[in-house]
Amino acid sequence: MSHSVYVFDAYGTLFDVHAAARKHMGSVGSESKKLSSIWREKQLEYSWTRALMGQYVDFWELTVQALDTAFTLVPEANKGARDELLSAYLELDCYPEVPQVLKELRERGSKLAILSNAPIKMMEGALRCAGITDYFDEVFSVDPTRTYKPHPEVYDLVTTHFRLYPEVISFQSSNRWDIAGATKFGMRTVWVNRSQMPDEYLDLSPAAVLKDLTGLPKLG
Ligand code: LAC
Repeated sequence: MSHSVYVFDAYGTLFDVHAAARKHMGSVGSESKKLSSIWREKQLEYSWTRALMGQYVDFWELTVQALDTAFTLVPEANKGARDELLSAYLELDCYPEVPQVLKELRERGSKLAILSNAPIKMMEGALRCAGITDYFDEVFSVDPTRTYKPHPEVYDLVTTHFRLYPEVISFQSSNRWDIAGATKFGMRTVWVNRSQMPDEYLDLSPAAVLKDLTGLPKLG
């Protein structure tokens, strides 16, 4: 196959996970930022614990459970905003550079895909709202594997589908732990370090680190 394949994580990489709380800051109250970061932390923690237990609960359900925990941990936040926040999570904004980056990659003839913890249905609204659905050749969800990233079976969905070795696939994520998983699996990885976090998993380093998706290196 002559195409370059670029695979993107969804939440935090294409979609801004804090857009929902920002949109409803007025009804959530002054602790909306704190609520949003605990919401995200718990959502990820639940994915890892469920994966280790071997008990799959889908990412939407984990997102709902994580928000309820966040409200308990941040009692100042107005729980009356719960349903608005959940609806907004289904239509999250994408980061500003995303449509242009995807458009340029397509124009170069690359194949584009998403690999996410989320069920396809959960991503559809955000993709539609951002107007980026048609840029993607494939949207992969962990759903068929019944586990979560960074389990190797998840990254294997992509290589199996495209019938390619992992090293000819470029995987982009803003989550350093996801980059570690994809690197371990053998992919060429690009860490999109949007929030200037310190490096971790030093034995599983990305090929490149960017501050957003602009300037993605070409595949060799
Ligand atoms: C995803 C999570 C990691 O989109 O945000 O897979």
